[in-house]
Amino acid sequence: MAIEEVIDLGEAHKMASDLSEVLPARVRAPFTASFVRSARLYDEFVHRLVFSVFRTSGLAAAVTGEPGTAEEIIARAGLEPARARVPVEWILRRLSHRCVLEQTDGHGQPRFRVRAAVPELDPASVLEEQHRQDPSWLPSYVLAETVARDYPAFLRGERTGEEILFSPSRLRLWVDFFSNDNGLYAVNNLVGAGAVEEWLPPGPVAIMELGGGLGSGAAALLDGLRRAGRWPDIREYRFTELVPFFLRRGQHTLQTRFPEASFLKFGSLDMNRSFEEQGVAPGSLSLVYAVNTLHVARDLDLTIRGIFHSLAPGGRLVASECIRTTPAQAVYIEFIFNLMETFRSPVLHPTYRPNGGFLTPEQWLGAMKAGAFADVVVLPDIAALRDRFPDFNVGAVGATRPS
Ligand SMILES: C[S@@+](CC[C@H](N)C(=O)[O-])C[C@H]1O[C@@H](n2cnc3c(N)ncnc32)[C@H](O)[C@@H]1O
Repeated sequence: MAIEEVIDLGEAHKMASDLSEVLPARVRAPFTASFVRSARLYDEFVHRLVFSVFRTSGLAAAVTGEPGTAEEIIARAGLEPARARVPVEWILRRLSHRCVLEQTDGHGQPRFRVRAAVPELDPASVLEEQHRQDPSWLPSYVLAETVARDYPAFLRGERTGEEILFSPSRLRLWVDFFSNDNGLYAVNNLVGAGAVEEWLPPGPVAIMELGGGLGSGAAALLDGLRRAGRWPDIREYRFTELVPFFLRRGQHTLQTRFPEASFLKFGSLDMNRSFEEQGVAPGSLSLVYAVNTLHVARDLDLTIRGIFHSLAPGGRLVASECIRTTPAQAVYIEFIFNLMETFRSPVLHPTYRPNGGFLTPEQWLGAMKAGAFADVVVLPDIAALRDRFPDFNVGAVGATRPS
């Protein structure tokens, strides 16, 4: 497919204009024509990397001939079954959507076989086009390209995803990726900040952020609250994170950027453990905030319960998340995160956590309601938008601890 066929700027302008008519004012701004076109370009870039991984990992040879389930194809390609299941199923789904594979559903298990030759398309031309369109997206390209090189070794069980993603020499990639200067990532922070402005209870507030990482989510939120005149209301902003390197960098970034913010506190917190045992007093918070963190909770029920008990009655949880529009959607960024064990294999629940990775709006609703939260809302309302915008995946889930 030629780059011009991926999406031209006119088409992107039309979609951005359609989006601006339906998106709520607080979250509308980042979804420009340039964002829409960049998202399409990135999707195409990931497709091209997937084609290459499909060939080099032996999967292409394993789907010629008899149709096979993911397990059968993994066995034929000699890949490590436990580790390869989720990413290979994801790759097979992507290739079916792209009509390279044919998918049939037999006995509840999809089977795949080759329908068309796997195209040999050069990812570099998409990268060049992205350079022209908006170079701020390039960190996301570098990360995907780096991961793609190691995918076959990962699928064969020779290296763990954590080694590939978080080796010391690659930490720089994350600094550039989790950043408000990264056009792909910044939208999550802006939508989260818009949702907090919408839902923050009036009066003095105590806020705790989970998985604050390198601080880009907190920076966008604090900027937003300052513009909205809410800084005098912030009694405490407790920035927490599990990974020491991220916590140190996040703290440094925020203290440098907001030297006057005496309400900022920093500490380690593991959302997979009791919050109270880690020093969070029950009922002490007005808002728990998290950007793309809750979907990696090992046991989402336990984390949601921990958040619920940390909130005062009437307090709010706001989780900005990448949200699947349908349960089977293979979102481009999962190409990277499927390498992480915590992303692939959380504790499951049959209705609202049937698989790892991102959740749908309905699954978030189910998980929050199971945790006794009320007034569960997604901003923007992805369920209402998805027929027209099936690839609109950014939303903030809000939920209230009843008074
Ligand atoms: C998508 S990143 C958030 C990035 C952050 N918003 C930023 O601006 O850098 C998710 C974060 O969750 C953290 N995380 C993963 N497991 C965690 C756990 N069990 N408890 C707390 N944080 C965790 C990761 O280290 C990572 O920083």
